Amino acid sequence: MNICVTGSTGMVGNNLVRHLLAVHGQDIKIKCLYRPKTFKHPQIFENLPVELVPGDMNDQSSLARLMEGCSEAYNVAGLVGFNDSVRREDFYNVNVLGSLNFARAAAQTGTIRRIVQISSATNIPYDHGTAVKPVPTLWRDYNRTKNLGEHLASEECRKEGIEIVTVSPTGVIGRYDWKCATSISKTIQYLSKGKFPIFPKDGGYDFVGAMDIARVCERAMAIGKPNTNYLVASGRLEIPQLLDMILKASSGRKPLVYAPSKFVLALGYMKDFVQKYVFPLNNYFPMMKLFGRETVMFLREDRRYDASQTTRELGVEFENVETVFQRQLEWMKKVNLIK
Ligand SMILES: NC(=O)c1ccc[n+]([C@@H]2O[C@H](COP(=O)([O-])OP(=O)(O)OC[C@H]3O[C@@H](n4cnc5c(N)ncnc54)[C@H](OP(=O)(O)O)[C@@H]3O)[C@@H](O)[C@H]2O)c1
Repeated sequence: MNICVTGSTGMVGNNLVRHLLAVHGQDIKIKCLYRPKTFKHPQIFENLPVELVPGDMNDQSSLARLMEGCSEAYNVAGLVGFNDSVRREDFYNVNVLGSLNFARAAAQTGTIRRIVQISSATNIPYDHGTAVKPVPTLWRDYNRTKNLGEHLASEECRKEGIEIVTVSPTGVIGRYDWKCATSISKTIQYLSKGKFPIFPKDGGYDFVGAMDIARVCERAMAIGKPNTNYLVASGRLEIPQLLDMILKASSGRKPLVYAPSKFVLALGYMKDFVQKYVFPLNNYFPMMKLFGRETVMFLREDRRYDASQTTRELGVEFENVETVFQRQLEWMKKVNLIK
């Protein structure tokens, strides 16, 4: 059996490839889409017997090459970030058009009967189970484009008569973020270097291990109900807890400004104003991309998710988030991503 995966150079996709290889062993061939232009970390696929297919989510012919001979397809590729850290058109091209292109290419193979699409828990009302409804935070480009991509891909699958199952994770933590592309890995890196000048004292978010997401994806492909959105969430990590664990695992020191989130929010508004109208701080201080009104508001939202339906229906239990986070820190240290 041939399986194809997009986004496998990223944190979730890399965990998924490792999990699929562990589950299926020699019985499968995995084809992974990668972008030669951004491929700077060959360790990503070290010791992984996969076939690499060059391409891009916006290049339909490369998706067709990726899917040739496959019977299962996972679309993990996506652009994650806050409003002023990623250009709006890039969000749109990858999260919306990319997802639509993926569904279209899968339908055209004639061999793929089901796809698994990764969306985001940010689009799921946190007190309303797993129904996908517009939520107030859709003003964020990331959420809006993930939501639209998910719906267009579903619509395309419905029209073309193939099945789609969606998997929506909360904040992702875990090993194998080789590029340190995710906000959490970047935050760990900056904090471990003692370079993060500002940090809120309160707030937090619901996280889940990337390997748990991989397990849910594999089960969703095998036994998930078509047109269902499986929420993947494990537990909440509070900011002081995160900070404490990072500082213990590294040689970092507490940020200069470690203040109540209301105060940091006010600074975030100021930073966004300066970024937009005075001086492009993000271009000169990349860590500033992680800091702004949107980030702090996000951490203050007090979102809590209940993924028990996913556990019941797919039989996947989620690992404790503290254990997963500790493992992420140890792995980052081992591969020299933090000191
Ligand atoms: N991180 C989170 O907290 C989080 C939470 C909820 C949902 N998600 C979703 O999970 C998925 C994976 O995210 P992640 O955390 O693993 O992020 P990541 O580490 O940044 O990985 C993103 C992946 O998407 C690929 N990609 C981006 N643009 C592409 C394009 N134009 N063509 C082909 N591939 C492209 C990247 O390839 P390159 O290596 O070439 O850049 C990379 O493999 C995304 O769909 C994201 O929306 C993430």
